[in-house]
Amino acid sequence: MGSVKRIEFLLICFFYARVSCSSVEQKIYVALNNTTPCVRLLNATHQIGCQSSISGDTGVLHVLETDDDLDWITKTGPHAPYMVLMDSFTFTRSSMMRLKNSSRVAGVAVIHMSTPPDKGFSPHTSCPNQNTGVYTESYGPDLANCSTTVWNPLGNGLSYEDFPFPIFSLADDNETQVIRKCYEDHNKRVNGSAPVYPLCAMQLFSHMHAVTDTVTCMRRTDLQNSFSINPEQLCDPLMDYNVWATIRPINATAKGHKQNESMVIAATRLDGRSFFYDLAPSAEGTVSGIVTLLAAAEALRSVTQVAPPPRNIFFVFFQGETFDYIGSSRMVYDMQNNKSVIDFDNVHSFLEIGQVGLRREQNLWMHSDPISRRNETVNEEVAFLVSNIKSAASMSNLTLDEPNATQALPPSSFQRFLRVRPIPGVVLADHQSSFINKYYESLYDTAEYLKVSYPPNLSPEEQLEYETEAAKSLTEVATLVARSLYKQAGGENSVLKNITADTKTMAKLLYGFLVKSNNSWFRSLLPREMVSKDRILESSPPQYYVSLSQNQQPKSVTTFVKYILANMTGTATNLNQSQCQNPKDIPGESKDLYIYDWISGPASENHTAGEPFCVRAPVRLAKAMSPAFELRQYGSREYSTWTESRWKTIKARIFLVASPQLQMLTLGVGIAVLLVSLVVTYFISSKADILFSSAHDAPNTTY
Ligand SMILES: *[C@@H]1O[C@H](CO)[C@@H](O)[C@H](O)[C@H]1NC(C)=O
Ligand SMILES: *[C@@H]1O[C@H](CO)[C@@H](O)[C@H](O)[C@H]1NC(C)=O
Ligand SMILES: *[C@@H]1O[C@H](CO)[C@@H](O)[C@H](O)[C@H]1NC(C)=O
Ligand SMILES: *[C@@H]1O[C@H](CO)[C@@H](O)[C@H](O)[C@H]1NC(C)=O
Ligand SMILES: *[C@@H]1O[C@H](CO)[C@@H](O)[C@H](O)[C@H]1NC(C)=O
Ligand SMILES: *[C@@H]1O[C@H](CO)[C@@H](O)[C@H](O)[C@H]1NC(C)=O
Ligand SMILES: *[C@@H]1O[C@H](CO)[C@@H](O)[C@H](O)[C@H]1NC(C)=O
Ligand SMILES: *[C@@H]1O[C@H](CO)[C@@H](O)[C@H](O)[C@H]1NC(C)=O
Ligand SMILES: *[C@@H]1O[C@H](CO)[C@@H](O)[C@H](O)[C@H]1NC(C)=O
Ligand SMILES: *[C@@H]1O[C@H](CO)[C@@H](O)[C@H](O)[C@H]1NC(C)=O
Ligand SMILES: *[C@@H]1O[C@H](CO)[C@@H](O)[C@H](O)[C@H]1NC(C)=O
Ligand SMILES: *[C@@H]1O[C@H](CO)[C@@H](O)[C@H](O)[C@H]1NC(C)=O
Repeated sequence: MGSVKRIEFLLICFFYARVSCSSVEQKIYVALNNTTPCVRLLNATHQIGCQSSISGDTGVLHVLETDDDLDWITKTGPHAPYMVLMDSFTFTRSSMMRLKNSSRVAGVAVIHMSTPPDKGFSPHTSCPNQNTGVYTESYGPDLANCSTTVWNPLGNGLSYEDFPFPIFSLADDNETQVIRKCYEDHNKRVNGSAPVYPLCAMQLFSHMHAVTDTVTCMRRTDLQNSFSINPEQLCDPLMDYNVWATIRPINATAKGHKQNESMVIAATRLDGRSFFYDLAPSAEGTVSGIVTLLAAAEALRSVTQVAPPPRNIFFVFFQGETFDYIGSSRMVYDMQNNKSVIDFDNVHSFLEIGQVGLRREQNLWMHSDPISRRNETVNEEVAFLVSNIKSAASMSNLTLDEPNATQALPPSSFQRFLRVRPIPGVVLADHQSSFINKYYESLYDTAEYLKVSYPPNLSPEEQLEYETEAAKSLTEVATLVARSLYKQAGGENSVLKNITADTKTMAKLLYGFLVKSNNSWFRSLLPREMVSKDRILESSPPQYYVSLSQNQQPKSVTTFVKYILANMTGTATNLNQSQCQNPKDIPGESKDLYIYDWISGPASENHTAGEPFCVRAPVRLAKAMSPAFELRQYGSREYSTWTESRWKTIKARIFLVASPQLQMLTLGVGIAVLLVSLVVTYFISSKADILFSSAHDAPNTTY
């Protein structure tokens, strides 16, 4: 029988001689390797994002450039459904909503241009985290829903739309040239008449398992978990870790109220997003705050050791803030339930670093909450904090002011603390009212936008050290923040001059967080196995989209901030490696107060790998998962309910399609060939004894 099967195979191959039998797929399809999809996210009530059908969506390529093309795609073109190819300038709300409304669109591929649109672009909402801040019907109703200040006026809300087709981002490189060429060669209209087959088509796969909303998805998941042996998770809560540190160590094992601790909280956020999955450069939106707070922590190190202020300073970096304040709402929840290292009675005041890119001028604004300031006591304390910051600013070139006293707080982690108690606090930002950032939560909020760029011909190591103008002005902000914190913590005025942030450090922070995380400085601060094995260091900047619970490892940004903060607030010890892992019995050392990390150490000329040593630091990670999942309140209005759908395949490819008639003909011929070959096979096999008298000689051969 083996010989017979082989003959049948050869026969079929013979009739399809146009394509090689071994690699049909590779010859016909060109896989696109440099793509990023938009994925589906869900909250308590909605689904947003994009998806394809389970077998991928296919359409004839059409480039969208003019309104005429839009009509062609949605109305007149004869080859629907279309796969729309556009560059990022055409990726606007009006064109996307028309495509969404049309049943003739199979999907969209957006070529990401590196030059940003001058007029600005933000796919985020115009009122970020509208429903989960402090302003509600019962608290400043006239400030709720951005009714006095629209924070992100350029926000077109595309990131929060639900699209029924897949949308992919393509990097503008050689691959897009391949696609464009395929389009030019086959699909381009000549004098307005329709192109003829064969046509260039594109297929996008991004099927999403979860539908409707988080409530539905988690209910199904819970059901599966209780009835199925192999439960399949359909969606995962967005989560990662907050990072915190104190200038004086506190017992992190003991939860709840800390006796005799009064803390000034210095906060910023760790995450951002864009329309596409895991692409979030967030330079001004997020990184400006991260680097400022880290450099401020370093500026405070030596002075707080020599002249410690009466109050402690609690640095905290919140994760998942973009998605309805995941990190801060979790910390607040833990503080209320004695699950955190401090509680609300330990909080003295709050200083949050918002967007401080300082692109336009040397102006910073101190935003505060007008509602809590109606209370005389709170108002006095806020005024005191404001005057502390102003006096710290008097020593610098920055000018600081307060916006209109009736203006609401901008979206900020501080709002989640105000929901519980009228803590005196200020949010520092470079905008008086609406954001100055033209590219909030978009792909254009990059290093270049923050003016972090280098003269040509610098080696990576030289770039790491190069002090850009942005580094200089952010260093001033970091100095201001450090001095304000020291003053607010009750420190002496005379020492303020000694507190200065380091421009060199700021230059390295900006390089690592915005240009290339795989640099000698980051390598020296991480444990060696993380450098060699975990591959969290990349030759590109980290992306700031918050991670998922299925990954046990913290997100790379969280890890970087943790180890840098350990360098900024910790001490190098002379413990050896095993003592570093277990310092329990060594006098003066305590894992309740510190973490101990065996880190790579700076590489020198002779030691390219660096000399590892043990760092002791009062730095910790704290879980940043919305309390809604802890409480299993998946329909919560109080807490973030964002989950991300799971998926199996993400891929994109282009190929040529024949006309439907030709396809039918090919199919018909194929069936005919099959029938003929079956008859022939039958004939041959029934006469096999005669035709292959040697077939019995090799009984072990199988095919
Ligand atoms: C969507 O299409 C319908 C008809 O198909 C039309 O009436 C409606 O105005 C369209 N909406 C938008 C936003 O284009
Ligand atoms: C804000 O808008 C939402 C819906 O858009 C509404 O339910 C809510 O009542 C508004 N809040 C206030 C205080 O007006
Ligand atoms: C869920 O997200 C949608 C889209 O952004 C929004 O309109 C809705 O208010 C959100 N639901 C909740 C409960 O926040
Ligand atoms: C892109 O194409 C150019 C010339 O066609 C070639 O020199 C270059 O190496 C290609 N780049 C990549 C990443 O393939
Ligand atoms: C993607 O990668 C595959 C395999 O490496 C290659 O055959 C294909 O040509 C690549 N696609 C493009 C558009 O370069
Ligand atoms: C920290 O707190 C825990 C629990 O209250 C206690 O057992 C431990 O001794 C404390 N450690 C230090 C160093 O005070
Ligand atoms: C003002 O706030 C303080 C502290 O939060 C509180 O003790 C006091 O009762 C408040 N005063 C009024 C008039 O609400
Ligand atoms: C203020 O700016 C001037 C000139 O730009 C500069 O020389 C000086 O060092 C700056 N002062 C501070 C405190 O940064
Ligand atoms: C402050 O805002 C209020 C209401 O938004 C407005 O009436 C008032 O004129 C503003 N004051 C200043 C000084 O801009
Ligand atoms: C501040 O600096 C001065 C001189 O630069 C030095 O004498 C003094 O000890 C410093 N004070 C502290 C607390 O570091
Ligand atoms: C911080 O990093 C610098 C440079 O890598 C190193 O010289 C210093 O010892 C580190 N300090 C701590 C406390 O880790
Ligand atoms: C590095 O090596 C050079 C010669 O190879 C030697 O002169 C120098 O002392 C070494 N430096 C260190 C810090 O070991």
